[in-house]
Amino acid sequence: MFEEFYFVPLEVPKLEFNREKFLDYFDTNKEHCVDDVSAPLDHPWNIVWAKPRNSDWTNDIKELFPQIINAVENLPFYEINNVAFLEQNSEVKLHSDVSKESDPLLGPSTYRCMLINDERETFYLREGIRIEGTLKDEIHFPEFPNNKNFFCVNNYRSMHGAFVSKNPNSRKIIMAIWGKVIPEKHLKLVDKSITFNHKYCLQVTPDNYEVKKTNFKVDLDKLQKDFEVAKGLMCHDNKVLCVTAVAGCNDPLYGCKPKVTLEEEMNRNYTEFPDIFIGTYFEEIINSLPFKIKRSRILLVPPHECMRLHNDLEWRYHLAIETNPSCYLVFRDGDKYHIPADGYFYAMNSSLRHTAMNAGTTDRYHLVICGVPGEEPTLR
Ligand SMILES: [Fe+2]
Ligand SMILES: [Fe+2]
Repeated sequence: MFEEFYFVPLEVPKLEFNREKFLDYFDTNKEHCVDDVSAPLDHPWNIVWAKPRNSDWTNDIKELFPQIINAVENLPFYEINNVAFLEQNSEVKLHSDVSKESDPLLGPSTYRCMLINDERETFYLREGIRIEGTLKDEIHFPEFPNNKNFFCVNNYRSMHGAFVSKNPNSRKIIMAIWGKVIPEKHLKLVDKSITFNHKYCLQVTPDNYEVKKTNFKVDLDKLQKDFEVAKGLMCHDNKVLCVTAVAGCNDPLYGCKPKVTLEEEMNRNYTEFPDIFIGTYFEEIINSLPFKIKRSRILLVPPHECMRLHNDLEWRYHLAIETNPSCYLVFRDGDKYHIPADGYFYAMNSSLRHTAMNAGTTDRYHLVICGVPGEEPTLR
């Protein structure tokens, strides 16, 4: 999922330092940065190298700001090439960076720390991904949670720039860290940061989409084991089994048919589990989903069958319990998606006209959970 995020405040302690002491140090040591990299942007920065390329941290930093070294060395790098403080002193034109430090598949993986930013709304990111997808016209000024200043950006794939502050006395200094990340540690940190700081993260807004992998994963082996009893009740003449039912329903396994109006459906709560699901992993999964859901069922599509074309009221989450590579969710315009049995829930925009087909030779069982009509799906 994080491939679609391009700005993420990091879930690491805020770097605290004495501002006056830092500015004093910066102003004494700064030079105008005139390297090749900043040339296309007309050299908008002043720079102080804290750790020049292929060298150790400077002695000044070791003595004056050991907390900076400590914070940087706690980031998930296996190699830190260089670290610099960059002060913007003229407009940074819209650009994306030509050199990538890590594989773009690692999502936002360029580590930065906003040390001083006196005027908000100068540094901006323009929504979009350079390689795929369309660039949106909106620009976003990233915000930080109060207790954070480290962040990760994908500055290789996303466009960004910075306006000049209107206040001549305001300062903006960013610490840039260049190096190679340890993929697993980096992904773990970004993932955790997205969870905790979600409202501050910037993510490419999908246009109109049909099927989207979510971040919700279950232990598929365990689910398949707990599915055996329910599976024994299903056959080609009995393709639907309810996993949750409206409380008090006479026949909770079959009795919660959806033939209700939207208004009735909105007032229904599917809180009861049929006996065969009580104490199973199904119950545990459904009770642990962090978003509001409606009906949940297991749907069987037998080999060589295709449902009629239809649309439903809401987004649905599909989890393949058993499938084969020739099972698809197919949309009216011909787009088709195979939901792999990988333990992940996939959100499906069922309000678009669609069908489900099984062109293979084995049964297809999906756990299908309905979202709340009118609500966007939760993907993580
Ligand atoms: Fe840049
Ligand atoms: Fe459907």
